[in-house]
Amino acid sequence: MDIANSTVFITGANRGLGLAFAREARRRGAAKIYAGMRNTAGFNEPDIIPVRIDVTDKASIAAARLAADTTLLVNNAGIAELIEGPLSGDVEEQSQRLFDVNYHGVVRVTQAFEPILSAQPQAAIINVLSDIVWLPRPILTPYAASKAAAWSYTNQLRFHLREKGIQVLGLHVGFVDTDLTNGIDVPKASPQDVASQTYDALAAGKSEIMADRGTTVLKSTLSAEVPGYITPPEGVI
Ligand SMILES: NC(=O)c1ccc[n+]([C@@H]2O[C@H](COP(=O)([O-])OP(=O)(O)OC[C@H]3O[C@@H](n4cnc5c(N)ncnc54)[C@H](OP(=O)(O)O)[C@@H]3O)[C@@H](O)[C@H]2O)c1
Repeated sequence: MDIANSTVFITGANRGLGLAFAREARRRGAAKIYAGMRNTAGFNEPDIIPVRIDVTDKASIAAARLAADTTLLVNNAGIAELIEGPLSGDVEEQSQRLFDVNYHGVVRVTQAFEPILSAQPQAAIINVLSDIVWLPRPILTPYAASKAAAWSYTNQLRFHLREKGIQVLGLHVGFVDTDLTNGIDVPKASPQDVASQTYDALAAGKSEIMADRGTTVLKSTLSAEVPGYITPPEGVI
């Protein structure tokens, strides 16, 4: 599906990768861009329409369905937190918080927008996932589990929506240069480049995009005798 002339709705689009998706959609000639955000005050981007949505709040999701001409939904909103490791006493509590946004949030928004998308001649969904679904990184245990759940949901959804002709694209990427990775001193992809690669993949009819080299290498190990989720490949951090 091409971005040009599409109507895009992006969650978590006031900053970071979500804002990059909105700006890149504008650059590519989208007909209309709805930027979903928890707080619309002060948001001022030419040709981008702010819409209040908190993906943990069903009432705000229902209200956002006023964007009834949406043809492309980008489930981008997400949160991350560090933890000591899988045995930390905080795992359950943190998991509930992260699942509420990163997994249940995706489910809620997708369910709310599916009837809108189904009514369009051409429609698509992009789910923002992560390399973490295949990478052992104990300090991100609840985040990894929430993204792995969202990945699984994405796969079920893609298969389910195939007969309706709705394209479902999963985006996997490692570190991206946004507030989420502030203070982490590692090479990071640019949000604009990730958004651009993702829209290219969508236009090419793909179901998945690995938006950096590390994630591409990691995925290539999945059928190896020792896949990357057991021993990460050399150079993948
Ligand atoms: N940065 C990375 O390295 C990286 C790598 C792989 C995947 N990702 C994924 O990329 C997506 C975007 O992250 P980012 O890097 O752009 O992070 P970010 O700069 O921290 O932005 C996160 C966005 O999500 C919004 N958000 C958080 N909770 C929300 C809720 N309950 N309802 C609606 N919006 C909510 C935030 O809104 P507020 O401004 O109101 O907080 C913000 O707009 C996330 O799904 C993240 O997991 C990021």
